[in-house]
Amino acid sequence: MTRTIEELIPDYLRGLPVYIPGKPIEEVERELKIQAVKLASNENPLGPSPKGIAAARAVLADANRYPDGGTHRLREALAELNGVAPEEIFIGLGSSEIIDLAARVLLRAGLQGLTSEGSYAPFSVAIRASGAELVLVRQREFAFDLEAMANAITPKTRVIYLANPNNPTGTAFSGEEFEEFLAKVPDGVLVVLDEAYIHYAVSVGLRDSVAAYRKRKNMLILRTFSKVYGLAGLRIGYAIGTTPLLSAMNKLKTPFNTSGVAQAAALAALDDAEHVARCIETNATERARLCAGLTEMGLRPVTSEANFVFMEVGPDAGKISDELLHMGVIVRPLAWMGFPEAIRVSVGTAEENGKFLRAMAEVLAKRAGKSVLATR
Ligand SMILES: Cc1ncc(COP(=O)(O)O)c(C=O)c1O
Repeated sequence: MTRTIEELIPDYLRGLPVYIPGKPIEEVERELKIQAVKLASNENPLGPSPKGIAAARAVLADANRYPDGGTHRLREALAELNGVAPEEIFIGLGSSEIIDLAARVLLRAGLQGLTSEGSYAPFSVAIRASGAELVLVRQREFAFDLEAMANAITPKTRVIYLANPNNPTGTAFSGEEFEEFLAKVPDGVLVVLDEAYIHYAVSVGLRDSVAAYRKRKNMLILRTFSKVYGLAGLRIGYAIGTTPLLSAMNKLKTPFNTSGVAQAAALAALDDAEHVARCIETNATERARLCAGLTEMGLRPVTSEANFVFMEVGPDAGKISDELLHMGVIVRPLAWMGFPEAIRVSVGTAEENGKFLRAMAEVLAKRAGKSVLATR
């Protein structure tokens, strides 16, 4: 009996959720005929590193050639920066690609991948797309419960995904807490530590995780050029891990996963210490201002170590996001990430954050007025 292609798609793939990206600003502006600010995707509001832009422009004329498939220069620079060998660096099409490759190498039907509820959605998708069982552990106070996660490891567990700081809650665990957790993880279980926002986390050192990796090799550290380096649109990220694991990932990746433009921009951005420092400093100042403003409005933003702020606003979170959208501020409602009462706002420029705070105050005041009327 012949079957349709649709029938041939395995059940575990049919049931996968679709990743919902933040609304593109142009679409919102066209649809609503307004000027909008986008604070929905944790992008760098100060733009790409100027050195990165110049380097990208300079190599555009070579776009007729395939890029360096071995990404030699960038791997060497990253190896030096992190104190590891170039063979311990893998360059990916954003860190997103590496999240997926780790699962493809180590997971399959009959095995388990472990992560936390309320964390970055692609972790769960990568586990389920491999055919393995997804095991989700509950969070504690919007943070990874590392003790519960260690207790959830079974003989079938092969990969554990952690994000530090976590997206969408912004919480972070310390280097010591991580080492304590790692000590409970068997050697045959890979810990994928996603550090997309690590530059913004003052409580965690950039070198903490690399030091842990040197002691215990069952780790894959993920970093990205999408956040502090401001290159999200160029799609480039990297991993630090053992050579056998990286070699297996290399066999699965597409031959020229990252473009020459992205490689050149990343290499130059890495060298742009001034831009990195300015982005971290602006983020810290503006994040504090956002949290203070939100607290003044009676909200309780969760202490963030990243470039965004998470807050619970009640069962009308979706409606509040929509009202903000109509006032020209795009934030992220989080029902699809497992938080039906929360929204996340990315830290923007001073002007963008001012616009958000004014709009939020207006939305909340309008709602307070309504609820007073309703109770009269
Ligand atoms: C925790 C986390 N990991 C990875 C990524 C994806 O980064 P990239 O642009 O490098 O694919 C994001 C993006 O928002 C993220 O929040």
